[in-house]
Amino acid sequence: MAGAANNGGYPDFHEHLRKLDDTGLLTTIDAPVNKDTELHPLVRWQFRGGIPEEERKAFKFTNVTDSLGRSYDMPVVVGALSTNAEMYSVGMGVPVEEIGGKWNDAMANPIDPVTVEAGVCHEVVLTGDDLQGEGKGLDGLPVPISTPGYDSAPYLTATNVTTRNPETGTQNMGTYRAGLKASDRMAVRMVSRPGGAEGHMHWELYKKRGEKMPCAIVVGCPPAVAYMGPQKLPVGVEEMAVAGGVAGEPIQQVKCKTVDIMIPAESELVVEGFIDTEYLEPEAPFAESHGHVALEDYNASMEVTAITHRKDAVFTSIISQLTPSESSVIKRVAYEPLYLSHLRDSLGIKGIKKVYLHEPLTNLRKVLFVQVERGLPTTEIWRALYGASSLAAAIGKYVVAVNEDIDPTNGDAVFWALAYRANPALDVQILKHRVRYGPKDPRTVNGEESTLLIDATLKSDMPPIALPKKEYMEQAAALWDDLGLPPLAPESPWHGYSLGDWADEWDEMAKRAAEGNYMENGRRSAQLRRNDVFPNTSIRDIPGNPFEDK
Ligand SMILES: Cc1cc2nc3c(=O)[nH]c(=O)nc-3n(C[C@H](O)[C@H](O)[C@H](O)COP(=O)(O)O)c2cc1C
Repeated sequence: MAGAANNGGYPDFHEHLRKLDDTGLLTTIDAPVNKDTELHPLVRWQFRGGIPEEERKAFKFTNVTDSLGRSYDMPVVVGALSTNAEMYSVGMGVPVEEIGGKWNDAMANPIDPVTVEAGVCHEVVLTGDDLQGEGKGLDGLPVPISTPGYDSAPYLTATNVTTRNPETGTQNMGTYRAGLKASDRMAVRMVSRPGGAEGHMHWELYKKRGEKMPCAIVVGCPPAVAYMGPQKLPVGVEEMAVAGGVAGEPIQQVKCKTVDIMIPAESELVVEGFIDTEYLEPEAPFAESHGHVALEDYNASMEVTAITHRKDAVFTSIISQLTPSESSVIKRVAYEPLYLSHLRDSLGIKGIKKVYLHEPLTNLRKVLFVQVERGLPTTEIWRALYGASSLAAAIGKYVVAVNEDIDPTNGDAVFWALAYRANPALDVQILKHRVRYGPKDPRTVNGEESTLLIDATLKSDMPPIALPKKEYMEQAAALWDDLGLPPLAPESPWHGYSLGDWADEWDEMAKRAAEGNYMENGRRSAQLRRNDVFPNTSIRDIPGNPFEDK
């Protein structure tokens, strides 16, 4: 699987698109579609139109137009990195269940990139006058408007914004939104809060030196590198080396044309320039992944010095905003295994089964579930709750521990656990001083939020779930099918099971009843009649009861 002209052994973005096409994960639209008003809203429907995650596709638009009546040769692809977990697994080259392991391996065994003389990303180089005026530079690119009606500009979203720490020389890549301002000027928005963008930390260092920050914005590149952008790697860790770990071989890199930054040689398109560290200018509104429109704030802007691209470049865009979205899937698939390995391997908490970051509408950061084995000591459950709430500054406003029989992706099951397995007076802690994420709340002190931790696990044995035993439900499902009734989509729980408070004696009684011998149970209860008990007294509270010596 050659990476075009550079012969990298790992797939480039074109190869990735071919694989998506081969596996039925790519829809190609040849009809004209307006990038300013139609393109993202069309793809949005697959997140708001009742289409299950497994059936979501990437979209490739080959006939892109705009609101000024212009058309573009460069196709636009939306949702090709991670509209569903399967697509992410195609990009990572491993089955979905091995994605977490692959991330861990790549981080533990990074492979440094190799520098090559030339790259396909430099087949077309635009500098100087090529960047000036209408239809040129950034204005000549098919950059879509993500949220028509609210966004103030077309935005680059599938970015690997690459900057260099001027003190250590290490490079960082982060996915940051970048809005067009002119044919040679764009906003680059790097989160400045604690735990925010590493690019912002670099910006602070250049600002101290009184220098502009060199920057290269890669838009579309081999998936192994593209997935590095949204991933929260420790500060100072070089994404290109971890990408090498994912690819299993060094990523080929070339030097940019006008800035001292190294970029993947197989990049589709690269915008080079210098980010101002003295002046900021208003940026946005832009509809954000926390589900609200980010209002106009002062942010950094970049003067573009070059745009380079492959001759056959495809313009990549990530669909983000209200979740679920491609942006939330790309983070969910990568963050959940990180959380699991943090709790299980770094904190050494045994009995952690899975960590779920709640996705629909809430966007992963606010509501977390830690699924634990039954019987895990309370102190370990609380270590897991504290650990999950503190790994990342902005993640973990509500953290809930549940057992394995509770499906955290099912809101009803979660309320069920809260309703029957947690006691607010005993099983809840509120922690102060959480960094704010999302729209401002005028009531908060210093803009801080807080955290609610809830232990909604079983605290003691409980009676079985009030549904027929599995064998009866399975027989009934077969009968249902034989009768030609409408297809079933079983919802958990769909059969009864024991939660510990149950006895062989009752099992035998239920068996007898199901076999038609309920009268034998009646004879037993007649033998146990007494005149010294009040209604609703448990049989187990009576001395000499049938369970006493068992
Ligand atoms: C589509 C998308 C857009 C994003 N936009 C921004 C952004 O504008 N600014 C930002 O700081 N982080 C943004 N993020 C989150 C960062 O990519 C993420 O926090 C990443 O870990 C940052 O990398 P860094 O820690 O190397 O800076 C975005 C993520 C995605 C998937």
